[in-house]
Amino acid sequence: MHFDIFTLFPAMFAGPLDDSIVMRARAAGIVSLALHNIRDYAEGRHAITDDYPYGGGGGMVMKPEPIFRAVESVLGLPSRSAGDESDPDQPRQPIPIILLTPQGRRFDQSVALELADHARIALICGRYEGVDERIRRRLCTDEISIGDFVLSGGELAAMILVDAVTRLLPGALGAEQGAADDSHATGLLEYPHYTRPPDFRGWRVPEMLLSGHHANVQRWRRQQALLRTALRRPDMLETAWLTDDDLSFLARLEQEPQLTERLQMGL
Ligand code: ADE
Repeated sequence: MHFDIFTLFPAMFAGPLDDSIVMRARAAGIVSLALHNIRDYAEGRHAITDDYPYGGGGGMVMKPEPIFRAVESVLGLPSRSAGDESDPDQPRQPIPIILLTPQGRRFDQSVALELADHARIALICGRYEGVDERIRRRLCTDEISIGDFVLSGGELAAMILVDAVTRLLPGALGAEQGAADDSHATGLLEYPHYTRPPDFRGWRVPEMLLSGHHANVQRWRRQQALLRTALRRPDMLETAWLTDDDLSFLARLEQEPQLTERLQMGL
């Protein structure tokens, strides 16, 4: 999987993508990243990338020319203009060109899975008050938001997307770890984790986990995941894939408040 990231602030990416799982996946050739400075594609001595909005109002708007030029040249796309649009022979451009913007569709685990299927993805990091509408409408194939809040630009959002997608790629997490049990991957929040020591300052690891009884441990984990999801994110239960056992367990939780209390203590 290859990411082309178009940004005015490539230095922001040093750090988060140079460490840990993403760096290991890069070293192993599972994922590669190329940072493209939009300013390098701006013309003139001042390499201007933004301008005042037509119609007035505050803030600056990112100009279309440098971004179109950057994306078309890096992805090897023909430079299209209004006259080309009705040409039915134009092949569809297969590489997703994604604008990171708070106006986009909401990023979640299912979007990460969808993106992990592509061999190459282009990410455009918007800045200032926004980008010229022609970038959205005529260049991008998708717009993604990482949540209902406004960041100073799309860079942090792009890093989050790269991280979430990379960990889904085969081999990225190493042999013994898997993304399959992650919170959200199963449609449920993840069960609680414990490690040694079994007794830390008098706070003990639930006996069930010390029992070594694999089937009971699996059942305990599933029930804890269901409980946690029911308490914290009941909306997720509407779309999670649930077995008959899960459904009867959830029904019992509703009927027996003491059961919830007992399970929350890890018993
Ligand atoms: N740029 C600014 N805010 C953003 C958000 N919430 N998601 C994606 N890109 C953004």
